[in-house]
Amino acid sequence: MENTEYIKEAKKISRSAYAPYSGVKVGAILISEDGKAFEGCNIENASFGLTVCAERVALFKAVSEGKRKFSKIIIASEGQDVSPCGACRQVLSEFSPEMTVVWQKNGKTVSRTLRELLPERFDFKK
Ligand code: THU
Repeated sequence: MENTEYIKEAKKISRSAYAPYSGVKVGAILISEDGKAFEGCNIENASFGLTVCAERVALFKAVSEGKRKFSKIIIASEGQDVSPCGACRQVLSEFSPEMTVVWQKNGKTVSRTLRELLPERFDFKK
């Protein structure tokens, strides 16, 4: 699928978001290296800090189904442009720091590697 089509799909997925506090509904599609798509939306909580972003919902679904390597993530909202927050960049980079990240900025579809979005990520060395 083309990135623009993925953006449209991610917007549809964002309608499932549970975001009564911020009103910001986000949808994510995470593609594993073997080509499977995992969908996620943000899920807020009355205890605000317990909110989980769309990207991490998609990632946790995928990892819990045995996937560890990802080629691409697409993020979108119908209300505003959204790029992945810092926490999600770190969590995604645990598995595939070279993956492509696609989102919309001022009506245009933008694509960067996660490495570009999170240079010098924290990595645990034993
Ligand atoms: N949000 C995401 O789902 N992904 C991001 O990368 C940025 C923020 C959600 C979390 C919260 O429910 C709402 O957007 C406002 O911060």
